[in-house]
Amino acid sequence: MPSAPAETGTLLSTVWPELFARRSARGGDELTAILSLADAKDVITFSGGFPAPETFPVDVFTELIAKLLAEDASRALQYSPTEGLEPARAAVAGLIEAKQGVAIDAADVLVTSGGIEALQLLAKTFLDPGDRVLVEGPSYLGAIMAFAGFEADVESVSIDDGGLEVDELAEALRNGRRPKLLYVIPDHQNPTGLSLAADRRADLVEMCRRHGVLIIEDVAYRDLAFDGSTSPSLWSLGPDVVVQIGTFSKIFAPGVRLGWAVGPQSVVAAMTAAKQNTDQCSGALGQMLMTRFVTEGHLERNLVTARELYAGRAATMLSGLEEHMPAGYSWTRPRGGFFVWLTGPADVDARALVAPAARLGVAYVPGSPFHTDGRGHNCFRLAYSRATEDEIAEGARRLGTVLRGNY
Ligand SMILES: Cc1ncc(COP(=O)(O)O)c(C=O)c1O
Repeated sequence: MPSAPAETGTLLSTVWPELFARRSARGGDELTAILSLADAKDVITFSGGFPAPETFPVDVFTELIAKLLAEDASRALQYSPTEGLEPARAAVAGLIEAKQGVAIDAADVLVTSGGIEALQLLAKTFLDPGDRVLVEGPSYLGAIMAFAGFEADVESVSIDDGGLEVDELAEALRNGRRPKLLYVIPDHQNPTGLSLAADRRADLVEMCRRHGVLIIEDVAYRDLAFDGSTSPSLWSLGPDVVVQIGTFSKIFAPGVRLGWAVGPQSVVAAMTAAKQNTDQCSGALGQMLMTRFVTEGHLERNLVTARELYAGRAATMLSGLEEHMPAGYSWTRPRGGFFVWLTGPADVDARALVAPAARLGVAYVPGSPFHTDGRGHNCFRLAYSRATEDEIAEGARRLGTVLRGNY
C-alpha cells in the first residue's frame, strides 16, 4: 500500500532536501547568510567583490546597445555558437596579444558566461570524486566551491607576500597522489590582494609541467594594478601547461556575465563540449557589446579611471586600518585589485564578530571559508572596491570599534 502523502511542511523541510545529490551538501549556505547581513540598511559593506558602479560606462552602453539593435538585432537577440561569436573571440585574442605579448588565434578562445562558468567547465571536464586539486591558501571561494561541488579533495598550498610558496608546492607535488589541477590567481589575488612574484612564475610552470599537473591561471584582477604594471602571465610562460581564464566582470560589468578561456587545444575543446549542456552559449548581446567596447578603445579608457578610483579607495582603507586597528592586527598592502586581508591575534574569531559588526553597521567576510583546512578563523576579507572613500573611512572606524570589543 502506498504510504500516506507527506504534509507540505515536511515535503519542504525534509523530503526534498533528502533527495538532494551528495555534492549539494557542500554548498555555500553559511556564506549566503553572511552576505545577506551585508545588505541590511545602513551597513557599510566590505563584503562582496563588487566593482564600483561609478566604473560602469552607462552612456557608452546606452549608445552601443541602441546601435547594435538597430544594425543587427537578429544576431544580438539570437542563440550564438557555443564557443562564442567570432568577433568576440577575436576581441579577446586581440586583448591577450596586446597585454601579454603572445599572438593567439581567435579560434583558440572560448567565450564563457563569466569566470565562474569557466571554472565550472574545467571542474566538470576534469574532476571525478576524490580527485586532488591544489589551490592557494587562501583562495577564491567560488573556485573552491566549484571544485568541491564535483567532490574533489581540495588542498591548500600556503602563500606569503610573494604569492604561492613554491617550496611548499614542490612538497605537495612530491607527496601523495598526483593532483589533476593547480588553481592560481597570480595578480592581486582574491581574497588577499597579494601577487605571485615574477621570479616564482617560471619555476611554478616548470614544476607543474614536470609533474603533469594542469595550471588554471585566473587573471580576474590582472588589468587592475594601480600603476597599470603587469608580470608575465603563467599562460605566456607555458601555454602547454596552463589554461588561463578571465572575466569581464571586474573591468566592464558583471551584469553582462562574460568571461573567457584559452589554453591547450584539447582542453578548450573539452570545455566547449561541456558548455553545450550547461548554458549552450553566452549571451550574444553582451558579446557584441563587449566587442564594440574593446575594439573602439572604451575599455582602455575606462581602465585608466577605474585604476585611479581603486587606488584611492585602497589608500583610504589602508590609512583607516592604520588609524583604527588595535594592537596585534596586521594586513596586506595590495598594489591592485579589490581586497585587503586583515589578520588578528590567534584567539580572534572573525565569524563570531560578523553579527556584532553588522549591528554596528559594517560588514566583511570572515577568513575561514577561503581556506580548505580550517585556517583563517582570525582573518577578515575587506573589499574596498564598492564603498566610497567616506564610507571606507567610517567603515574602518566601525570595524576598529568592534575589534576592540566595544559592542
Ligand atoms: C578570482 C576571481 N575569479 C573569478 C571570479 C568570477 O567572476 P565572474 O563569474 O563574475 O566572471 C571572481 C569574482 O569574484 C574572482 O574574484
